[in-house]
Amino acid sequence: MKSTPELVDLEKSDFDWFRELIERESGIHIRENKYMFMYNRLLRRIRNLGMDNFSQYKDYLRTGEGFEKELGKLLEEIVIPESSFFRYQPQFEMLVSMILPDLMKRRIMQGKPLNVVSFGCATGEEPYSIALLLYDRLSVSQRQLVRIRAVDLSETLLSKAREGLYEESDLANVPPIFLSQYFIRENGGYRLISRVSQMVHFYKFNLVHENWTRFNFSDLAFCRNTTIYFNKEARHQVNYNLKNCLRENGYLVLGHTEIINGDQNGLKHMGNMVYRKVNP
Ligand SMILES: C[S@@+](CC[C@H](N)C(=O)[O-])C[C@H]1O[C@@H](n2cnc3c(N)ncnc32)[C@H](O)[C@@H]1O
Repeated sequence: MKSTPELVDLEKSDFDWFRELIERESGIHIRENKYMFMYNRLLRRIRNLGMDNFSQYKDYLRTGEGFEKELGKLLEEIVIPESSFFRYQPQFEMLVSMILPDLMKRRIMQGKPLNVVSFGCATGEEPYSIALLLYDRLSVSQRQLVRIRAVDLSETLLSKAREGLYEESDLANVPPIFLSQYFIRENGGYRLISRVSQMVHFYKFNLVHENWTRFNFSDLAFCRNTTIYFNKEARHQVNYNLKNCLRENGYLVLGHTEIINGDQNGLKHMGNMVYRKVNP
């Protein structure tokens, strides 16, 4: 049995080294006062790997093999996966009253595909909320035109999302009619029916390190409560990519603290952190 690393084991220089690594690889900025948070998260990885101390873990991450195998797991420890169905309702009201009618007219009614992406989807509540609304409003043939992709850097969160199984407490904002029509009780929880869940395709994707061209021609992009943890540079880069991946007149939905200087960017603010891509 390996001994537990002592608190003193995480030197300030090592703490900074881990913070820098995480920031470089994910955009996530960890503030200096997060020492205990980092200590506990790193400790979990160290125990899991059966290592003795923080330096050993650092040395492992410095090797090609260690970096390859371990970086994703370290990032998974750091991310904040909080989410819920129909989180921040005013945006979903806008989706129903303004965005979907517009996209129906310009895309679906013309027989054109409708591309939706949820960036930083965590355990799936956000893309599934969108899928529920679309499923409920579209005919079988119209649904064929819809592609909903949902991405996150954490494979663990994505696996949970693909499962589509939720606790009652996760579903507090789901309209009762949706709950009875589109969820099945299972093992004390609720499972989203497959006809709805299969509308969403989940992929692992790092917003700050991968090529965004696959998301070109998106009609609707959600990126909420994800870039708030990023440093300024990563946030700017992601906002730039978000705008560029949208089709003209496409919509971007951000978290309520993730303000961007929209009008100068060719993004018009429509209220409630919903933006529309316009000709600058
Ligand atoms: C707080 S959750 C937001 C979930 C959902 N969008 C919502 O608002 O309810 C933030 C998610 O962003 C993901 N994330 C953080 N950095 C990321 C990155 N560089 N690339 C992709 N996903 C990232 C995290 O794994 C986490 O699941």
